Amino acid sequence: MGDMHLGLSIGEVTARSGVARTALRFYEDKGLIHSERTAGNQRRYPRVVLRRLAFIQAAQRAGVELSEIREALDTLPDRRVPSKADWARLGTVWQAKLDARIEALTRLRNQLTSCIGCGCLSLKSCGIYNTGDEMAAYGPGAPRLRIKAQGGKDPVG
Ligand code: FES
Repeated sequence: MGDMHLGLSIGEVTARSGVARTALRFYEDKGLIHSERTAGNQRRYPRVVLRRLAFIQAAQRAGVELSEIREALDTLPDRRVPSKADWARLGTVWQAKLDARIEALTRLRNQLTSCIGCGCLSLKSCGIYNTGDEMAAYGPGAPRLRIKAQGGKDPVG
């Protein structure tokens, strides 16, 4: 598949990665992946693009913004194949981000069965935690989710 020196064609990258050509061009426009041009003006990608694409796709599935993904990929060397150490360094940078995201998602999952103070007064627990929608005093939205997401103390203890 592809000339190891010239690299992979856009069709080969699409076939191997499962990423559509349009998405490849989009990622390239966003600076997430890079290609070279042949004399015939054809795109050629280095083989390591397959790992970058797998990383981009996994991060997007985890709900990470493209700008954050770009920031992380920018820590990788551009002019050589990233080493294990390069990816490990990226992993360290991301550890904190992913941990925070996991914590937020876990909090949301745990909160789903209880009152979040949004004003709906639709759950039995609303009568306990949000009598008469007193949570409105904490501002718009769901204060119990928002304040905890900001690292604050649950307004109802
Ligand atoms: S969940 Fe909406 S006010 Fe309790």
